Amino acid sequence: MRYNSIPASVKKYVIEDQEAVDSYLTTLGGGHFSDTATGGDYASSVSSIPYCKNIGIRGLLGAVSPAPGADVFDMLGGSGQVALAAQQYGLCSFADAIITADIEIDQVERALRRGLRAVPLDLADPRIIRNSSVHHLLYAYGFHHLSPDARASAAREAYRILKPGGTAVFYDGTIGTTTERISSLVVDRLSDHPHKYPHPTVDEIEAAAEAAGLELRGTFRILDPQIFLSATGSQARQLAAQYYADHYAIDSLSWELLHDHLTDAYRSSNPIDAPEMSTGRQELAGWLPWNETYSGPTSAKLLQAIFPCGWDTPDESCRECVVIPREGVAVIYNKPQ
Ligand SMILES: C[S@@+](CC[C@H](N)C(=O)[O-])C[C@H]1O[C@@H](n2cnc3c(N)ncnc32)[C@H](O)[C@@H]1O
Repeated sequence: MRYNSIPASVKKYVIEDQEAVDSYLTTLGGGHFSDTATGGDYASSVSSIPYCKNIGIRGLLGAVSPAPGADVFDMLGGSGQVALAAQQYGLCSFADAIITADIEIDQVERALRRGLRAVPLDLADPRIIRNSSVHHLLYAYGFHHLSPDARASAAREAYRILKPGGTAVFYDGTIGTTTERISSLVVDRLSDHPHKYPHPTVDEIEAAAEAAGLELRGTFRILDPQIFLSATGSQARQLAAQYYADHYAIDSLSWELLHDHLTDAYRSSNPIDAPEMSTGRQELAGWLPWNETYSGPTSAKLLQAIFPCGWDTPDESCRECVVIPREGVAVIYNKPQ
């Protein structure tokens, strides 16, 4: 990929030295998520259930809320799940403002083929992005893939590229949350490709951002369940097990085994002591458990939370569901004016 393939509307954030940009792009490349053995399955799991994380994505986008005309860089954007779900299901009013950025060129090319605005970037070293040019940054669904050094560099670079007053949202399953426990006690025990680094703590994110000069605006809890809809309960459970196998590179996984591991993970998790930043929980109050899988009939409340603009064709195909509750922490920063 070269300078010329960066969409015109993204080039305004990129330095003018085309040679330097082309040379930078040659330093980025493949990786776990583009590998045909693991990445193909990851991508197919995401596109097979594109609504899977809608509730969490909606909560997160609510934490960004840009002014008209301001763009949002989704810095761990992969092939564009956040932007696509936002567009397809009307999860926010600024879906077209989301720019998908990722270190893996294949992922970015996939996003471009899907009609998204996208750019290859290493978030620890986004040196082709101009100083003080970006309105909003989102670091979600993958901060735990970065080494602690890369996390600290990400915060320093966020400060450099943000406009004064711009926001950076750092989101992850911090240690002890259901999201982290599932990652450590389900994925890492079963996967052929366990995570390389421990998930971050809230203190680690805060220390990195504050050392970079960013100003804390707030710390919030995000309800972020994985949802699987189907016509029958057994199909929904099969869908969930297949998604986990593909998404996390796990060899043949039954629902029963997944359920047992999830139960272990929930038992050792702690509720998050932070105010909520999610429309999902209010809609689901009294229905969705926070630390237990649900498998049974799909409620109207759940459908409303996943598809806020309505479900085009209410039919038998979503009568039953599996819900794997997860929660993460979003820490929101401003670059001082
Ligand atoms: C778990 S995937 C999430 C993708 C997408 N946001 C989603 O929800 O499906 C994490 C992504 O982070 C990307 N990534 C890892 N390290 C990165 C870095 N240093 N800079 C930018 N992206 C990175 C990976 O290539 C991968 O696409």
